[in-house]
Amino acid sequence: MTASAQTATPALPQQQANAGPAALDEGRSTFASKCSHCHGPNMVNAGTITPDLRKFPDDRERFFSTVKSGKNNRMPPWGDLLSDDQIAALWAYVSSRRNP
Ligand code: HEC
Repeated sequence: MTASAQTATPALPQQQANAGPAALDEGRSTFASKCSHCHGPNMVNAGTITPDLRKFPDDRERFFSTVKSGKNNRMPPWGDLLSDDQIAALWAYVSSRRNP
């Protein structure tokens, strides 16, 4: 039994602080396969209810908690499907595209 699926704020993987190109690549491909059909290939899906992820605040805890648990029954929960490392890679990718 792993504790991580239930944890709202996980122990953060060390490598996150300096997410390198490998994490960015992993995040990009996970985003393309798991997220882009709702959020759009470039983090924005005009005319839908999905928020523009380029404007998501620099709030890693909120990102982890939404991605793990979902939001408002519209954003699906990923806690059982993605590891903390995969979510950290997604965060690195989303952060790299931030454009407030
Ligand atoms: C089935 C469509 C769908 C998929 C797939 C999806 N999302 Fe979402 N996501 C949504 C919707 C809809 C919202 C807006 C929810 C709301 O505010 O009610 C949302 C909101 C978000 C937010 C903002 C949450 C907040 O706290 O404001 C983030 C971050 C996010 N999604 C990331 C992701 C990531 C990363 C993936 C891929 C692992 C993903 N989403 C996959 C539909 C989806």
